Amino acid sequence: MMRTTSTTFAITALVCLADLAAGAATPGNTPRAPMRLRDMLNKRAGTVAGPKINQDFPDPGLILPNGSPPWYAYSTSTSHGHVPYATSQDFNTWTAPLGDALPNAGSWAEASQGIWAPDVRQITSNSYVMYYTAFSTADGTHCIGAATSSTPKGPFTPQSAPIHCDDSGGGVIDASGFEAPGGALYLVWKVDGNSKGQSTPIFIAPIGANGYTITGTPVQLITDSSVDGNIVEAPSMVYWDGWYYLFFSSNSYNTLYYDVSYAVSTSVTGPFTKVQAPNAPLLVSGDCGTAGPGGATVINVLNNYVNAVFHSDINGENASGGRAMWSITDLTLSGGVATVNC
Ligand SMILES: *[C@@H]1O[C@H](CO)[C@@H](O)[C@H](O)[C@H]1NC(C)=O
Repeated sequence: MMRTTSTTFAITALVCLADLAAGAATPGNTPRAPMRLRDMLNKRAGTVAGPKINQDFPDPGLILPNGSPPWYAYSTSTSHGHVPYATSQDFNTWTAPLGDALPNAGSWAEASQGIWAPDVRQITSNSYVMYYTAFSTADGTHCIGAATSSTPKGPFTPQSAPIHCDDSGGGVIDASGFEAPGGALYLVWKVDGNSKGQSTPIFIAPIGANGYTITGTPVQLITDSSVDGNIVEAPSMVYWDGWYYLFFSSNSYNTLYYDVSYAVSTSVTGPFTKVQAPNAPLLVSGDCGTAGPGGATVINVLNNYVNAVFHSDINGENASGGRAMWSITDLTLSGGVATVNC
């Protein structure tokens, strides 16, 4: 498909929050509110920046353990291991990949084919769950695995079997966790239908207190259409001020049409509505210097602010030169609309 007008629309949607802030300081305007946490941390509102890890670090996951630094990010397999991780004290300067958080992906998983799109969630003060995608020899397709650790750097210990498979749909990939207001835990994922010419619905299901056992019937949230290039994937859900935002990528990851878009609902199980131009996609190639932006993970940090990481093609053209990690500091979410500036 051709999304020829998307870049124009997305640029129109960029809100110049810096100008609004400057306006608040002019005589006659109301005084500024007291400094918020993000101001104290020297952050501008809704800011896309990168590359933050300027080497291959695709499909990044993100967590702020116990609500205090360091931040941890995790990526799809690279030369640094099955699930490389990196850290940051300030969400601005990141380390290079430090090691492999998942040296053992489980006997069911063919780790040599790569571990995709890891996501880590904190379940209790000292327990973490990693969701990941691996090829299952027994199933002949991709399944979702879970591994646990008492520390965010791991090594995470895999469950002996996948937590979810869907062989007929084309496999399941891109799982990520979500904690709803009140503490209920969910898992969202993509059915990898494009691997066999089928649709790519994104599902949600409740998970148990252990953080990885699916305890209810999966519900479909959205699926692909022609304007998505017949692919929606990489779901990441976040709650903010009455709205559930389901971020996703559309089109093929290996093209400049890859993007970060989103759908919204006032209920965790939907129905979700894909947000339309000019409010979506959130990021397309060219926005803030990105190329093929996608694979975002968006997290609500203690209900104070929302941060995100995503990847962008290093060579500016496709994924073959690696995908660097970029970040969004203090993503602006309001009334079902997400906005960023550069
Ligand atoms: C990917 O981009 C590189 C240039 O950086 C180019 O040489 C190569 O042909 C591209 N690959 C595909 C499949 O388009």
